[in-house]
Amino acid sequence: MRYGRFDDGAHEYVIERPDTPLPWINYLGQEEFFSLISNTGGGYCFYRDARLRRLLRYRYNSAPTDVGGRALYLRLADGEFWSPTWQPVRRALQAYECRHGMGYSRISSTYRGVSAAVTYFVPLGQTLEVWRVKLANRNARPIDLQLFSLVEFCLWDAWDDQTNFQRNYSIGEVEVDSGTGVIYHKTEYRERRNHFAYFACSAPVAGFDTQREAFLGAYRGLDRPMAVEEGRCRGTVAHGWAPIGAHQVELTLGSGDEREVIFLLGYAENPPEDKFSAPNKLNTARARATIAAHFDSSGLDAVLDDLHAHWERLLGVYQVGTPDEHVNRMVNVWNPYQVVATFNLSRSASLFESGIGRGMGFRDSNQDLLAFVQLAPPLARQRLLDLAATQLPNGGAYHQYQPLTKRGNDAVGSGFNDDPLWLVLAVSAYLKESGDGSVLEALAPYDNAPGSETPLYEHLQRALRYTLERLGPHGLPQIGHADWNDCLNLNCFSSEPGESFQTHSDQGDTTKAESVFIAGLFVLAAREMAEISRHFERAEEAEGYIKAADAMAQVTMQRGWDGEWFLRAYDRMGAKVGSRECSEGRVFIEPQGMCAMAGIGLDDGRAQSALAAVRQHLATPHGLILQQPAYSRYYLNLGEISSYPPGYKENAGIFCHTNPWIMIAEAMLGHGDQAHDYYTRINPSAREAISEVHRCEPYVYAQMIAGRDAATHGEAKNSWLTGTAAWNYVAVSQWILGIRPTFTGLQVSPVIPTHWPGFSATRIFRGATYHVDVRRKGPGNAVSLEVDGQPIQGSIVPLPAASQLEVRVVATIC
Ligand code: GLC
Ligand code: GLC
Repeated sequence: MRYGRFDDGAHEYVIERPDTPLPWINYLGQEEFFSLISNTGGGYCFYRDARLRRLLRYRYNSAPTDVGGRALYLRLADGEFWSPTWQPVRRALQAYECRHGMGYSRISSTYRGVSAAVTYFVPLGQTLEVWRVKLANRNARPIDLQLFSLVEFCLWDAWDDQTNFQRNYSIGEVEVDSGTGVIYHKTEYRERRNHFAYFACSAPVAGFDTQREAFLGAYRGLDRPMAVEEGRCRGTVAHGWAPIGAHQVELTLGSGDEREVIFLLGYAENPPEDKFSAPNKLNTARARATIAAHFDSSGLDAVLDDLHAHWERLLGVYQVGTPDEHVNRMVNVWNPYQVVATFNLSRSASLFESGIGRGMGFRDSNQDLLAFVQLAPPLARQRLLDLAATQLPNGGAYHQYQPLTKRGNDAVGSGFNDDPLWLVLAVSAYLKESGDGSVLEALAPYDNAPGSETPLYEHLQRALRYTLERLGPHGLPQIGHADWNDCLNLNCFSSEPGESFQTHSDQGDTTKAESVFIAGLFVLAAREMAEISRHFERAEEAEGYIKAADAMAQVTMQRGWDGEWFLRAYDRMGAKVGSRECSEGRVFIEPQGMCAMAGIGLDDGRAQSALAAVRQHLATPHGLILQQPAYSRYYLNLGEISSYPPGYKENAGIFCHTNPWIMIAEAMLGHGDQAHDYYTRINPSAREAISEVHRCEPYVYAQMIAGRDAATHGEAKNSWLTGTAAWNYVAVSQWILGIRPTFTGLQVSPVIPTHWPGFSATRIFRGATYHVDVRRKGPGNAVSLEVDGQPIQGSIVPLPAASQLEVRVVATIC
């Protein structure tokens, strides 16, 4: 069953009924101001940090779901009222549609002859969200229509806001400009803050409220505010309690009349010396100028055009035409779109991540960059340096850092031993994309300590050394607190209810538990490092990295191989994890994918055997399961993984992030049909037809789909902020379609399904546009290239002369 459809031409997903299984959201803004907006207008927004600069309150896990944040109400003279975005009133609308597009969402509806279309977006370069409300009277007679707006302010610190009521109920402060109706939210401005929020309305304002209980009335919800029911705001000015912004607008619309009302919800800062215009009176001059500049419909049309152009530029970097519409849709539009969201927010703010708990993940953000580098290399470069600055002098890294301060998060700390290696992969991806070797010389400190700066290249050296200095009894890397699988906690031994596995400190001797996954990752990273050295004037060091990689590969084959597949780990007592000797958790997906991607066992059949084990034990119609058999009970020596009920999350869920590793490995082995088949199983567009099972948005990946052991096999959770976005993009665009940047040029080496006759692609790479035409002449993957009409050797198109802006590539595969 579907709840909408793709409008591929418009790059929109069109939701056709409001009662989707979960709120289906979009992200607005991509510089400093971010908004989450659901298909019924819910969600919240913040400036840079969803915890420390949040404008709108949001109640996670509330019933009904997704009420709060922002709302609109329409009311006719006979007293009937509704929400043009369906929520919060939920009156059955005569027509409803929500179009989530690139950086904007438009919700349209009709009720009693009143049609409303609300377009929400964040203009480029601004710290505000715009709601353009277009109303039209389709009745044969004139109507008197009231429009009410509502935002519920969060008191900036989203954690405090949900917990510290003895303080909060007394600190709320607003100012209202009764002339223009602009509502300023200035809680804590009198003391340490120099920022405030404003909520402005372009139409003459007939009334306002800023005290929530006065607007709603006692014991009422947002679905039935007293002010809306009675058709009049009270003009309250909040002192403490729960400050809101609500406007009342009176409109008389003749038959066929249309009217636009614009609301602006923004974040503003004043310089400390210029905070006040009179004692305790907010200096609103700058905010008023911004507001005035945005109350102009044709001006806003241009702003929206800029936003469209911006997205067309980003998406234009790689466009494909293949026989598979699900591939086209995801590669051309939605997958890069999701990659931008993960780049911006890491794992911090979604409808599953509260914006309070988690900062930017070190490994997460590095992996997000693998796909983001092609979209905006300068932003990727800065992110690499920010990440490197949270590395520690010993080469390890803080697991997370806070977006506002860019400092490492002490609460979570360090010791996730895979973390630093991902930096090597991210830098390598950036170098291949941009050719910008200067980044290796750029200075970054350790732990942000002034004076500790070294070139980025040395950060990478220390990252690799970190692994080599921490080997366990079998010569494999020590796992530390955890590796990629945050929930495989081999040193933690937590037996107290309520202890967080993520922050619980490791007990006793932590040098014994080892990770085969990190071994694979190390081999991959060390080989990339060798390439980096070779191409950027440190050729003499390349040999050392190759040797280190080869040595680790040997150890992995000797001590990390279980006979048919790669082991997952050795626990603290030296027992195997992910072995046929285990009664549960016999086969894990991560080392199969990572070791094969690193090239371990490619020549001697081990990689083939490992992938066959994945197919046999882990493949389901809904994707590849993380491990099997699921843990049926809690194992003290394994930690959080065994705390999840079977089939969910790391305990045998389909943890989508790992699936593209297998797709890449299959592609490396030349198995195009298998790689594409796995790709399709978790492709959200291909799953659209079973939306009642999948339940999350059909246009973005979710972190997890419930596994075979779960009661709800096939049900997705935790959409949007997942490493699945970057990795799947890499798997499909670089390995299945086979167009991938290298240090010396653009490689074209597709491993596509045998039934595809070919495909076409355009790729902008280092300033030139490559037009690639792939033609299948036989069932294999052997590729011969013609570049601008001339045959070339190998599969890498050499970089053209700087003056050449177009390159034509014909790839014949047979
Ligand atoms: C989550 C985390 C990621 C981790 C994965 C597996 O997606 O963000 O860092 O690797 O879970 O535990
Ligand atoms: C939880 C999640 C896991 C995630 C971790 C991050 O344990 O289950 O997926 O990696 O939190 O802190």
